[in-house]
Amino acid sequence: MKRQIHLNLFIQSRGHHEASWRHPDSSALALTDIEYFRDLARRAEAGLFDSIFLADTLALMDTVAHAASTWLEPITTLGAIAGSTSHIGLIATASTTYSEPFNLARHFGSLDHISGGRVGWNIVTSWLAAAARNYGGESLVSHDERYERGEEFVQVVKALWDSWADDAVLDDRVSGHYARADRIRPINHEGKYYRVAGPLNMPRGPQGRPVFVQAGSSDTGRRFAARHAEAVFTAQMEKKTAQDFYADLKALAAAEGRKPEHVMILPGLSPVIASTEAEAQHLARDLNELTDPEVGRKRLSGRFGGHDFSHLPLDRPLTPEDFPDPGTVQAARSRTEVIVGLVRREKYTLRQLLAYLAGARGHFTTAGTPEQIADLIEDWFNDGAADGFNLMPPLLPSMLDVFVAEVVPLLQKRGLFRSAYEGKTLRDHFGLPRPTTHH
Ligand SMILES: Cc1cc2nc3c(=O)[nH]c(=O)nc-3n(C[C@H](O)[C@H](O)[C@H](O)COP(=O)(O)O)c2cc1C
Repeated sequence: MKRQIHLNLFIQSRGHHEASWRHPDSSALALTDIEYFRDLARRAEAGLFDSIFLADTLALMDTVAHAASTWLEPITTLGAIAGSTSHIGLIATASTTYSEPFNLARHFGSLDHISGGRVGWNIVTSWLAAAARNYGGESLVSHDERYERGEEFVQVVKALWDSWADDAVLDDRVSGHYARADRIRPINHEGKYYRVAGPLNMPRGPQGRPVFVQAGSSDTGRRFAARHAEAVFTAQMEKKTAQDFYADLKALAAAEGRKPEHVMILPGLSPVIASTEAEAQHLARDLNELTDPEVGRKRLSGRFGGHDFSHLPLDRPLTPEDFPDPGTVQAARSRTEVIVGLVRREKYTLRQLLAYLAGARGHFTTAGTPEQIADLIEDWFNDGAADGFNLMPPLLPSMLDVFVAEVVPLLQKRGLFRSAYEGKTLRDHFGLPRPTTHH
C-alpha cells in the first residue's frame, strides 16, 4: 500500500482563527459544554481522522476580556469523549514542569484503559510565564531547565508504565492469584528532580505506553523530540522551512538509533475552504475584520515571555530590532523565531503581523477550494515536508465539516488516506510499534 497521510484535529476555542468565537458560522455551544467536544470528536471520527488533540496552558490568558480563551482541562475532557467514540485517537497535553510523574503516569495509564488504547500525551514543558505563579514560583523556569527536567520526567514515566509486565495480571478466582508479584517491579528512581519508588499502582494499558507527542522546535526541543516523540506537531509558515525541519528531525531521530518512520511529523494547517477561491478569500477577510489588534498585541507579548510591545505603532513597518533576540527568550523560543523571520521577510506593519498571526498563531494558513487544499496536502506529503497534518480549522465545526465532506474524499480517491479504520488503537492508526518492557 502507498504511504498514508495522517490527520489530527486540533480542537481549540470555536476554531483557530482568533475571531472564530464571534463568527456566526461557529458553534453556538458554550466552551464549557462537553457536548461541544464530543460532537467535534464524532465528526472527526466520521472523517476517519487518526486523532483529536487538546492543548493546555496552566494560567488564564490575559486576553480573556475580548477573546474566548478558556477551555476544559484536557485529561478529564478526553475521559468523557472516550465513551462517545470508538476509534479515534485522543491526545491530551500535560506538563513536565508543573506535574508529578507518578500522577501523570496514572492519569494517562487510566485513559489508555478507559479508551481501549487510544491515548496520546503531548509532552510540553509549559512556556507561559504566568503558569509559574500558579505553582509556587515567581518567574518562568528557564528554557534549559525545563527541558532538563522534562528529560528526567520522561525517563520516570516510561519506567512506571513499564513496571508491570504485560502478563502480570492473572485475575484467577479459582486459585486466588490476582497478580504475579515477580512480574511487577519497583523503579527506584533517584535523580536530580525526582525520587520515585514505583511500581505504578495499575497494570499496563493496551498500548503499553501512550503515544508520545511533542511540539518543541528549538534546538533543544528537536533533540528532545528525536529521543522520545512518536508524533511531532510543528508550526511552519512555508513549505521550504517545513522541509528543512522534516529532514533535520528525521536525521536526529536516526542518530538516536530510532527508525525515522516512527517519528511522524505533522505541521499545522489552517485552511479556509469554499467552492471558489474568491469565496474562500472573502471568508478569510470577514474573519480578519472581527479581530482586535489589542488582543493580538497581548498574545504577542505572551509569546515573547511578557515583553512590552505597547509602544509600537500599528502602521509602521516592523524590523527584527523591534523584538527581543529569540535566542534569549525563555518562553516558546521556536515560535518567536518564526515571527521574527516573518517580519524580516515580509516587512509587515504591526497591524499586518497581528492580522497574519490571528489566522492560526504562526501556523500555515491558506484559503482555497477543496482541490487546492488536497493538492497542497499531497504536495507537502510527497515532497519531504510532512507525514500528515495537524488540522486547525479556522472555524469549528463548519470548516471541519467542509474538510471531511470535500477534502477527505479527494485524498481517498488519490489513494493517500484510509477509507476505513484498520486498527483500534492510536498506535495502530499511526503505524507505531507497541513498546516492550524489560521484564
Ligand atoms: C501544535 C502545537 C501545540 C502546542 N500545544 C502546547 C500546549 O498545549 N501547551 C504548551 O505549553 N505548549 C504547547 N506548544 C508549545 C510547545 O510545546 C513548545 O513549548 C513551543 O513550541 C516552543 O518550543 P521550543 O521552546 O522548543 O521552541 C504547542 C506547540 C505546537 C506547535
